[in-house]
Amino acid sequence: MTKRTVVAMPGDGIGGVVLDASIRVLDAAGFKADYVQADIGWEFWKKEGNPLPQRTLDLLTEHKIGLFGAITSKPKDAANAELDENLKDKGLVYSSPIVGLRQYFDLDVCTRPCRTYKGNPLNFIRRGQKDAIEEPVVDVVIFRQNTEGLYGGVEWSNPPAQVYDALKTHPKFVQNFSDVPVEELSVSTRIFTKKYTSRILKAAFAYAEKYGYKSVTVCEKPNVIRETSGMMFKLAQEIQKNEYPEIELWNTNIDAQMMWLTKNPENYGVIVAGNMFGDIVSDGFAGLIGGLGFACSANIGEDVAVFEPTHGSAPKYADYPESIVNPIAMIASACMMLDHIGETKISDRIKKAIAKVIEDGKVKTYDMMKMTGKSTVLDAGAASTDEMADAVIEALGE
Ligand code: NAI
Ligand code: MG
Repeated sequence: MTKRTVVAMPGDGIGGVVLDASIRVLDAAGFKADYVQADIGWEFWKKEGNPLPQRTLDLLTEHKIGLFGAITSKPKDAANAELDENLKDKGLVYSSPIVGLRQYFDLDVCTRPCRTYKGNPLNFIRRGQKDAIEEPVVDVVIFRQNTEGLYGGVEWSNPPAQVYDALKTHPKFVQNFSDVPVEELSVSTRIFTKKYTSRILKAAFAYAEKYGYKSVTVCEKPNVIRETSGMMFKLAQEIQKNEYPEIELWNTNIDAQMMWLTKNPENYGVIVAGNMFGDIVSDGFAGLIGGLGFACSANIGEDVAVFEPTHGSAPKYADYPESIVNPIAMIASACMMLDHIGETKISDRIKKAIAKVIEDGKVKTYDMMKMTGKSTVLDAGAASTDEMADAVIEALGE
């Protein structure tokens, strides 16, 4: 195996501790890599006025593969208030560096697998016939378009004249909004392009074919959001017909899908959606398999790929003398990195070890014990972040 270089971006809060834990597991599993630390997050916004310094972008351009912990984002006014005195009033505007990374490197394909771990006390259960308790096995992989749509950032409050004039060319705008003063208007756009919509759909179908999923579900709202959701579904129909006739194409609306989440989650396989609905539906499915401590993700572009847990920086747990948060989401994200670069044997070994620790049930972080997060949870029997990583490492050998 050639030695890899991985860009390690701890970010803020608990990002560093879960990233360290995952690197320990990668090392123990025999993955040979150098990790170059790269700066990202709140500290660099405060000190340099830029949470995503160019040197970090350069490292990723060079090495192509990144592991990312989490960052802290705060609203506009709080961000300005915390800027270094020398940088204040220079017109600097904070924007999320992880969203920035996705856009800079065109990491347009976001993959979020949500699979039930046997024995996880946080698994979703429901009442079935004759009051039987059912624990459906969820095996869903969400493909979320990562760079456009509602998170594309094309938005205005008090839009400029050209935008206002353009809006006035639409009969629905004239009918419903023409008497609203322009300074009282806020507009966020939802732009879908054929190129990127096709890319996310094709990634979803290719994954379904490769891993034997029988269906791909487009989860949007084409009956109401006709142009963008409608375009996505139409393209999906063409791709399915021409390239993947053996895979079923299903169409669900995001609102109904959230309701079906708890009724029949076992029926779904690959799900594909635009940026915001993909974000929503992936958190929904993650909730069925244990929530933020378990939800992993990959952001994949043509050249660069970054792997991250879907949770944030959980600032309230950041300064504990011994960290209590669950590192599994980050370790599982590292496995997605291994899969992406073809190190599937090591990845499978780690995934098996995680599954074993969960099924054994002896080592559980506070979330798995359904405790409220406090520094006292360790005394009450919860495993620390490091103890969970140690348990996974020990299970590698079994
Ligand atoms: P969060 O994901 O940081 O935490 C929410 C709650 O989930 C925590 O208080 C904790 O109870 C639980 N939690 C999170 N990770 C956990 C883990 N590994 N193990 C066990 N429990 C865990 O979301 P929140 O509180 O909304 O945001 C905190 C900060 O993180 C904000 O500044 C937000 O902007 C940022 N954020 C960053 C993301 C990223 O870096 N990709 C994603 C989401 C939020
Ligand atoms: Mg989210």
